[in-house]
Amino acid sequence: MLRDTDLILCCGNSNRKLAQSIADAISLPLGDVEVTRFSEGEILAKINCDARNRDVFIVQPTCPNPNESLMELLIMIDAFKRASAARITAVLPYYAYARQDRKDQGRVPITAKLVANLITTSGANRVLAMDLHATQIQGFFDIPMDHLYSAPVVIRFLKNTGIQDMVVVSPDAGSIRMARAFSEKLGTDLAIVDKRRIDGATAKALTVIGNVSGKNVMIVDDIIATGGSLVEAASILKRNGANQIYAAVTHGVLSGPAVERIQKSEIQEMFVTDSIYHETYPSKIKVLSVAELLGDAIMRIHEGKSVSMLFNS
Ligand code: R5P
Repeated sequence: MLRDTDLILCCGNSNRKLAQSIADAISLPLGDVEVTRFSEGEILAKINCDARNRDVFIVQPTCPNPNESLMELLIMIDAFKRASAARITAVLPYYAYARQDRKDQGRVPITAKLVANLITTSGANRVLAMDLHATQIQGFFDIPMDHLYSAPVVIRFLKNTGIQDMVVVSPDAGSIRMARAFSEKLGTDLAIVDKRRIDGATAKALTVIGNVSGKNVMIVDDIIATGGSLVEAASILKRNGANQIYAAVTHGVLSGPAVERIQKSEIQEMFVTDSIYHETYPSKIKVLSVAELLGDAIMRIHEGKSVSMLFNS
């Protein structure tokens, strides 16, 4: 608990817009930190404010450009540590490298653990993350980790869309828990798509478990990367008689062919949070802000209060 210590909220370059929205939500200016490059590409972080004995929160989702964003974060943490900050919290609205969270075949890394090690070794004292791809990643850190869910923000929005006769759909086995939570809160039935991943950019939907015929469906997932999973799910749901198809996805990675696939797909409208910055979005995608949620969590951590009340607010 660092109630009597000034709070510094700052960010790297990955999502300055979200960091500014968080700063606005908690009525604080963004700390003056410059993250620039040497001519060959090395990263330089320069803190232009007094950081000694401060409670520092660095907002840096590690996407887009996961490698650059992660390295910026590590270097900023190191700079604050050497500037004698009292406590450094890495705020990761999106935690990249999370999909490799176990050895599911021989001779592959566990990048989610490697990244946790890097963040800890660089000097972070705490982590604040949101909708981790796998909740067990919390255990990859031996420093305190607060894990937020974007669900309260998204569900509040969905309740006001007026979409009737809805079924919540998990596009694969991995998102069943998330989809079940949404269906309980929205008071709808639940259906599941049985998906097989062919390769990094291709997924195949095999069957639908549950009834979607004549229903409006809301596919929920934590990540849309290439859009393969979502578009396949939408297509098999349509073939199973679904009416209007919507999607709510926390992290809009939107890489490779994602935008084109979404625009051409059966999906009528899709909702993503602003955890990952994009300059523009295609017409089918609407962005919901998690700035207030993150701002509330940051203030609660700073004041030594529980953050668990934010899970259902
Ligand atoms: C898979 O386990 C995740 O929940 C997402 O469904 C997946 O990462 C999405 O990737 P893509 O959009 O490339 O299919």
